[in-house]
Amino acid sequence: MKPATRRLLLVMAALLLAPSLAVRAQEKPAADPPEVQMHRPGTLPDRITLTWVSDPATSLAVTWRTEPGGKGPVAQIVPAHPGISFEAKAKSVEASTQKLDTKRWQAAYHTAQFQGLEPDTAYLYRVGDGDHWSEWFQVRTAKDKPAPFSFLYFGDVQHGMRSLWSRVLRESFRTAPDARFMVFAGDLVTDGNDDLLWGDLFGAGGWLFAMTPVLPTPGNHEYRKDDDGETRLAKHWGAQFKLRPNGPKGVDHGAYYIDYQGVRMVSLNSYKQVEEQAAWLDDILSRNPNKWTVAFFHYPLYSLSKGREDHQSLIKGWKPVFDRRGVDLVLTGHDHTYARSGLQERTVYVTSVSGSKMYELDRKPWMKRAAENTQLYQVVSVDGDRLSFETRTATGSLYDAFELRKGPGGTVSFKDRAPKGVPERIRPAAD
Ligand SMILES: [Fe+2]
Repeated sequence: MKPATRRLLLVMAALLLAPSLAVRAQEKPAADPPEVQMHRPGTLPDRITLTWVSDPATSLAVTWRTEPGGKGPVAQIVPAHPGISFEAKAKSVEASTQKLDTKRWQAAYHTAQFQGLEPDTAYLYRVGDGDHWSEWFQVRTAKDKPAPFSFLYFGDVQHGMRSLWSRVLRESFRTAPDARFMVFAGDLVTDGNDDLLWGDLFGAGGWLFAMTPVLPTPGNHEYRKDDDGETRLAKHWGAQFKLRPNGPKGVDHGAYYIDYQGVRMVSLNSYKQVEEQAAWLDDILSRNPNKWTVAFFHYPLYSLSKGREDHQSLIKGWKPVFDRRGVDLVLTGHDHTYARSGLQERTVYVTSVSGSKMYELDRKPWMKRAAENTQLYQVVSVDGDRLSFETRTATGSLYDAFELRKGPGGTVSFKDRAPKGVPERIRPAAD
């Protein structure tokens, strides 16, 4: 072949190959979209969450996430101070680390426990690794005796954490900025193994989760099938939520209680081991020094939604204990509608929804107030003999309310305080 012919062939080959090379360059795997990138763990702490592993009057537990491989995780705490030179007085607490393979990326979850705190005292704390720190957060310990306070309760979040649930949580903070904790009635995300969904949940809360401790109870969506076909509590749950280990022996997560200023808050795992928890519940309520008792769990005893059955195992297993021991409030989720009972024996039953997944209501005689297609949050306030309950819509307006009063010998009276002139939001009017 003549050199000129060879050159011509080479030029032709280059021209033919050029477009396909260009196509190949474009086919390079695209970078993760920003909605994924934003949840990648980094050097700085995120998903900072307060819980209690022991007494709320003298302790706090904090959990946060980073990428693995950082320096030793540490938390610092100091009594709250209006000045700016408190850092030197801060006490350092070593954290324990748990690695989590999310299948999307590796993460490290760190937990530090602050112990020996003074009751009813404001503290500043931060978390990090000695070089890289979170901001300082302010939080107050509980009083060590009964005293008025409020807490927030949210039914299922599960869907629309970033787009639609964020406003619910933020509006609840506007209503009750001094709420002392947040109760979550399970199904916090629709797939407990999906790191992005947890990222959306904690993104919606941001620093709220670092300032207001959470009391979560697991729902069916936190139980997922593992690769071996076994259904287990999602690993994110145990990594993120360090909860008080005072449940019945042998019960897999979710059963625990704390006492807060005259109220016993009991979380039950309604997904499994119902019978095992009944005896424990009866026992801890038989020696309960608190005036008020609130139980919270995921499945409602009485179903609210079309096509759903009552949970007979809970009615048989737990209701006799609620009746016998005088549980004042039962807070649940799962049915993606709202309904509230009157006083049944000595208990008021509430099921609510805070996220964006909505079901059709199945109206029953026990429902004194109900809603469809409405994102809600609840503020519960306790003051001596009075417990007031408010349900508010995502826009902050009062939708439902009632009041309980304790009389001599533990008698309970009930007052319906649903706002007059506010019609129920029922389909099709509730769009
Ligand atoms: Fe559920």
